Parts: sequence; C-alpha cells; structure tokens
Amino acid sequence: MKECKHVAIIMDGNGRWAKAQGKPRTAGHLVGSDNVRTIAIAASEMGIKYLTLYAFSTENWKRSKDEVSYIMKLPAIFFKKYMQEFLDRGYRMNIIGELDVLPKSTQKVLYDAMEESKNNTGLNLNICMNYGSQREILLAARKYAEDVKNGIADLNLDEAGFEKYLMTKDFPPVDLLIRTSGEERISNYLLWQIAYAELEFVPESWPEFTPAVLQRCLEEYSHRDRRFGGVTNE
Ligand code: IPE
Ligand code: IPE
Ligand code: MG
Repeated sequence: MKECKHVAIIMDGNGRWAKAQGKPRTAGHLVGSDNVRTIAIAASEMGIKYLTLYAFSTENWKRSKDEVSYIMKLPAIFFKKYMQEFLDRGYRMNIIGELDVLPKSTQKVLYDAMEESKNNTGLNLNICMNYGSQREILLAARKYAEDVKNGIADLNLDEAGFEKYLMTKDFPPVDLLIRTSGEERISNYLLWQIAYAELEFVPESWPEFTPAVLQRCLEEYSHRDRRFGGVTNE
C-alpha cells in the first residue's frame, strides 16, 4: 500500500453530534476525547507513525466560557484514564500550540504527558491545543527575524530552514488530512504542512469516526495519484 506516515485530523462535529442526542455540547467533547484513544490505537495498528489531531484552535476562544473551560479540563480527564496505556504502548505525546496562555493546571497535565513519554519511539500522538497555523507561521517569522538580527541566521533561508522554526519541526509533512462532520474547510490548520497532503472530507462526526472509517480513508488514499507537481507515466 502507498506509504502514509503522517495523518492529520480536524476532529469536528462534537457539538452537533451531542445536540442530535439531546445532550449538551460538552457531552460531545467527552465522547470525542475518548475517541482519540480508539483512533490512536487503530492508527498505530494500521502503520501510521504520526497522528496529529486538532483539539482546540486559536479561534475557539470565541465559544462560551462554559464550553471553553470544559475543554480546558478535558486533558486532565483524558490522560488520567489513558496515559498509562499510552506509555505501555510506547506512544510519544507531543502537544502543539501556544501553551503558555492555557490555565496553569492544563499546562501542567500537557507538559507532564510530553515529559513522561519523551523517550518513546512508537506512534507520535500530536495534539494541537490553542493552535492556529497563521499564528504559528507568524511566530516562526518573528523568531527567524530575531536570529538574523542576532547574527545566528543569514538571509539565505530555504523551505527546509524555515520549517525548523515551525511548531511541527520534528515531524514529516502531512500525507493525509481528514476532516469529519461534512465541513469542507481547513480552519487555520497546518497550512504549511499540508502543502501536498491528500484531503478527505467525511460525513461522520468525530464521535462517529470509527476505526472502520479510518480504514476507508486510508483505502481511498491508496488510490490517489500523488504527483507533487510532476507527471505520472501511464
Ligand atoms: C470539534 O467539534 C471540537 C472543537 C472544535 C473543540 P465542535 O465543537 O466544533 O462541534 P460542532 O462543529 O459545533 O458540531
Ligand atoms: C476546527 O473546528 C477546530 C477544531 C476541530 C479544534 P471548528 O468547528 O472550530 O471550525 P469552524 O469554526 O467550523 O471553521
Ligand atoms: Mg465545529
């Protein structure tokens, strides 16, 4: 099968899924967070090395105070339930985003998860928390400018050099980007990293996104002709 090292997912539709069940939006986020475990295990078993999940965007602060504070508490609930299992499975947790503005207790849980798993070599489970790609690129540009000013960098920066300033510097480019719940937009996610990713938009909401749906996405991916600007000789 065509190599698919890095899958990124925009985990969308928790709120609508909950509403359809007559439950509050937060109930959808809880079920959605449990599904992160299910899909991480499935992805790892399907041979994916990097799974990058969009959990909270820089724009999601616009939501109600109650919803935002619930989402900020979810990492503690999630890692309490599943961290030991992730360690046993050899997963490495990476949290991507501007973490310093998150509540202190949330930051601690996230930094602990990274610290405890930093020597693991299995699945890289990347969770994007207070992440926005425009902000990421802006911060990278600022850091580069600073390095030029301090004589650490020169003006001959190339694409590979610029990538070193991004929050995803340790990961390969995204091969497949999936968005759940039928929306067909990128919502400020991994703009640089998806330059040549294959895109798939599935109707299932995130709580309904099962390993079988992931398998279907990978099957579809395997039929795509990735040309990277070249031509296929057929
Ligand atoms: C995705 O589900 C989770 C987050 C953005 C935090 P939503 O909360 O966006 O659910 P919908 O799109 O409103 O149904
Ligand atoms: C994108 O979903 C962000 C996450 C999944 C964390 P949103 O639900 O926030 O995106 P829009 O507002 O519909 O574009
Ligand atoms: Mg949404």
